[in-house]
Amino acid sequence: MACNLLMCGVKSKTSVYFERAFMVKQKILCVGGAGFIGSHMSHKLANSDNYSVAQADIWSAKLKIRFENKPFAFHHIDISSDDDELSALVADHDIIFNLASKASPRLYVQDPLAVAKLNLFDGSKVIDACVKHRKKLVHFSTSEVYGKALGSTEPFSEDLSNCVTGPIRNHRWIYSTTKQLLDRMIFAHGRQSGLKFTIVRPFNVVGPLIDHVMVGPDDGAPRVFSYFMSALMNGEPLRLVDGGKALRTFIHVDDLVNALIAILDNPAKSNGEIFNIGTPQNEIRIADLATLMRDIFAANFEMSSVRSDIVTVDGQEFYGEGFEDTERRMPNIDKIKGLGWTPRIMLKDLLEDTMRYTWENRHRLTQEAMDAME
Ligand code: NAD
Ligand code: UGA
Repeated sequence: MACNLLMCGVKSKTSVYFERAFMVKQKILCVGGAGFIGSHMSHKLANSDNYSVAQADIWSAKLKIRFENKPFAFHHIDISSDDDELSALVADHDIIFNLASKASPRLYVQDPLAVAKLNLFDGSKVIDACVKHRKKLVHFSTSEVYGKALGSTEPFSEDLSNCVTGPIRNHRWIYSTTKQLLDRMIFAHGRQSGLKFTIVRPFNVVGPLIDHVMVGPDDGAPRVFSYFMSALMNGEPLRLVDGGKALRTFIHVDDLVNALIAILDNPAKSNGEIFNIGTPQNEIRIADLATLMRDIFAANFEMSSVRSDIVTVDGQEFYGEGFEDTERRMPNIDKIKGLGWTPRIMLKDLLEDTMRYTWENRHRLTQEAMDAME
């Protein structure tokens, strides 16, 4: 019986070869793609049959540390000033990821104007270029858009939850509100300009290359994992903001990248949608996170018998005036699970993996922090 090999689902080596040879890869451009999340995504897609990937960013140090010699095209583009170059690059790609951002609570209160400028005004240029050249946009929003939990125990839902923040004088919310306004503009472009888009809202991503290793307790503005890990490595106290009573769910960056690929692979289901991406099972109180990280460090990496203390600090003193915390941040992930994705990496493995990478690469990562300060 004559049989079309492809229809039977049985592919010869020759047919697979020809399929691959003639498949046109979709060209992805990651704006802000040399940072933590962008570098992992680029690495994962580097050998993909379906996608090629390039980054537009103002630095490439993080990419080089872990992923040097990988087949990426890196374009040195500052989206605040290189308008023509950005437009030309967007025109030359099929799907644009917008990751460029300042995303640390200390910066929100210490330099709110810079946060607003990059996240909203410079970010708008990426959106406008996608509209102009009719390109699909995958935009990085944030769980911070949902604001305060305000005593609610309901998981945040993309299409139902209210987005409630604090008073204007609490600059903490400038990141949340500028990100929210951009989400609203993207939706409006979807309706009025025919923009094809997907918005993703990650919930506290952790993994190798997150932030920098601190060379002292007030070096820069990383996120909680790096504050705690740097303190453990430097033999300094871990500081709990207002007693560390806030709750967070942490997701491993590898799980996040797999969710992004599920979105890419399901364009019809993901167009015009917002997706929370998080790991609800990995919820932990920050005070317990400090104890858990200290235990993992002592069991695996400690150089001496010195054990870091865990102390409490006042939020306004630690971050600066205008700080306010989110008490609980739990994602509803039913929508993204509808694309066949589910998070797999549980909290202890997530921490051990990230702590081991940071420990084994501490000299290089510390040098990177010193170079960035110059
Ligand atoms: P990151 O800081 O590691 O990466 C951001 C990148 O943007 C950096 O490489 C930076 O050089 C680049 N950038 C800054 N200014 C630029 C400019 N003017 N022109 C071009 N590039 C510029 O951040 P990340 O953790 O990888 O986060 C990526 C995105 O995901 C951000 O939009 C962030 O708001 C969002 N997000 C992250 C998390 C998380 O836990 N990491 C959670 C929620 C949302
Ligand atoms: C973060 C940042 O706003 C963004 O990176 C990101 O968009 C967002 O989360 C997200 O993941 O969606 P937040 O979780 O408040 O916000 O920031 P972290 O630095 O990760 O802090 C988590 C908790 O640890 C907060 O309660 C903070 O006060 C506390 N913390 C932080 C400490 O107790 N000690 C520290 O040394 C640092």
